[in-house]
Amino acid sequence: MTGSDERKIITVADPAALAETAAERLIARIARNDARIAICLTGGSSPKALYQLLATDACRRRIAWDRVHWFIGDERLVPPDDPLHNMSMARRAFLNQCAPVANVHPIATDTADLNDPDKSAALYEHELKIFYGAGRLDPARPLFDLVLMGIGPDGHTASLFPGYPAIEETAHWAVGVPKANVEPFVPRVTLTLRALASCSEMLFEISGPAKRAILTRLLAGENLPANRARSQGETVWLVDQAALPEDFRG
Ligand code: 6PG
Repeated sequence: MTGSDERKIITVADPAALAETAAERLIARIARNDARIAICLTGGSSPKALYQLLATDACRRRIAWDRVHWFIGDERLVPPDDPLHNMSMARRAFLNQCAPVANVHPIATDTADLNDPDKSAALYEHELKIFYGAGRLDPARPLFDLVLMGIGPDGHTASLFPGYPAIEETAHWAVGVPKANVEPFVPRVTLTLRALASCSEMLFEISGPAKRAILTRLLAGENLPANRARSQGETVWLVDQAALPEDFRG
């Protein structure tokens, strides 16, 4: 696999086209691997339409559910029944209907102390290493087939916030974040840039006018976490017209 600093920006008309394009890429990525597949999901509101689409008959029958394992790139440390819980949102939207329970790999927020994100992060890192079958990431064998990402108003991605030490972490695969930079201000666990990069494809979903200001800064090259997140394979930003800065609209 050849690593690349390049990223590809694909523009689409609206949120519905964005979810459809993301679903097609996810399904295509799954189809390229006839062994065990690992997808790293993301939280926030951006991926919800994609998740709901995956549960529809049209998509559902095209996915080899038994072979696909679902992880999460970051989690808010709230109980699983809290509406803010990222993996629970994905479970409700599609995993509960479609995926074998054993193939869903949440970050622990029930057994772990909700105020101890480092403990949850260590547990998740251990689980990822067991799944991967090694404690060191081998560029020839990416951890994930696909990593989904979103972008926050401050340029964060996953729970990697600007200026926080987590963004510089190179030894660990997952770390605790005691307090988020944006709402909800709860402790988080996030995968690190290094772990997230170990994938064949990293796919960002960026939609709606509320993203236009941060996208303008990112496209101008500001040194923000979302600009530092790269796949060792392909990095793709899916952007709808409403999120695009004026100069980029066509
Ligand atoms: C989280 C996230 C986070 C999210 C962005 C975008 O737990 O908050 O995983 O990185 O992807 O903040 O959030 P929205 O999709 O809600 O705009």
